[in-house]
Amino acid sequence: MKVLQLNDVTKTYGKDRAQVHAVNKVSLDIERGSFTSIIGRSGSGKSTLLKICAGLLKPEEGSVILDGDDLTKIKDKNRCTIRRRKVGFVFQNFELIPEFNLMENVCVPFYLDDRTPDMEYIDELLKVTYLYDKKDRFPEELSGGEQQCMAIVRALATRPAIIFADEPTGNLDMRTGEEIMELLNYCNVRYQQTILMVTHNLELLQSAYRILKMQDGRIVEDYDKGIENL
Ligand SMILES: Nc1ncnc2c1ncn2[C@@H]1O[C@H](COP(=O)(O)OP(=O)(O)OP(=O)(O)O)[C@@H](O)[C@H]1O
Ligand SMILES: [Mg+2]
Repeated sequence: MKVLQLNDVTKTYGKDRAQVHAVNKVSLDIERGSFTSIIGRSGSGKSTLLKICAGLLKPEEGSVILDGDDLTKIKDKNRCTIRRRKVGFVFQNFELIPEFNLMENVCVPFYLDDRTPDMEYIDELLKVTYLYDKKDRFPEELSGGEQQCMAIVRALATRPAIIFADEPTGNLDMRTGEEIMELLNYCNVRYQQTILMVTHNLELLQSAYRILKMQDGRIVEDYDKGIENL
């Protein structure tokens, strides 16, 4: 069953000669419970595509159907609610709230939806990411890698049906990076959460059963059977 469907999606930045076709007529189907990696050179459109998939950016053309809802047709307010309930997003630049401490940042998606945070699960996530003793710290009091882990915990805490992760291991040492991958794999296998991840680290691709390669705003390759066919 499809959890995400893109049809001829186009997103352009700038005007006239400065125009960039960041995403150019992309069509894509993502199966529920699948794990997909997106690779491609800098500027090929990976982050833009991920934000469109998650309803964070509106394309000029095409449709984005997330779990049965067409994100390009509904009102912004409803789009926000759907996103909060169904989607977890790890931003390339974290997007943490500087005035909130770690725990408050992690709990924001719950409070916005009037939901009670699942403290047991959050504690488990904090232990796996070695942040358990740093719950009261503010983002600026954490290292880049710790902030990355914090962004990952925030994205996973609500147990979203679909997790978008934009280079989630970009700032981590090899070992912590592997642990984050294990955590994402665990979420995928144990809770059937669908994962769409951008990565530059080819060693992380082993866990992805499907690999998409982007170039100049298009998906130019789609390996459905994993790394051995790359
Ligand atoms: N807000 C913006 N305004 C103008 N151009 C933008 C904007 N965001 C991205 N772009 C351009 O769109 C293209 C795709 O950018 P995008 O961030 O999606 O690439 P990426 O594949 O994620 O790159 P990286 O691997 O460096 O993160 C690039 O040419 C970029 O310069
Ligand atoms: Mg990017």
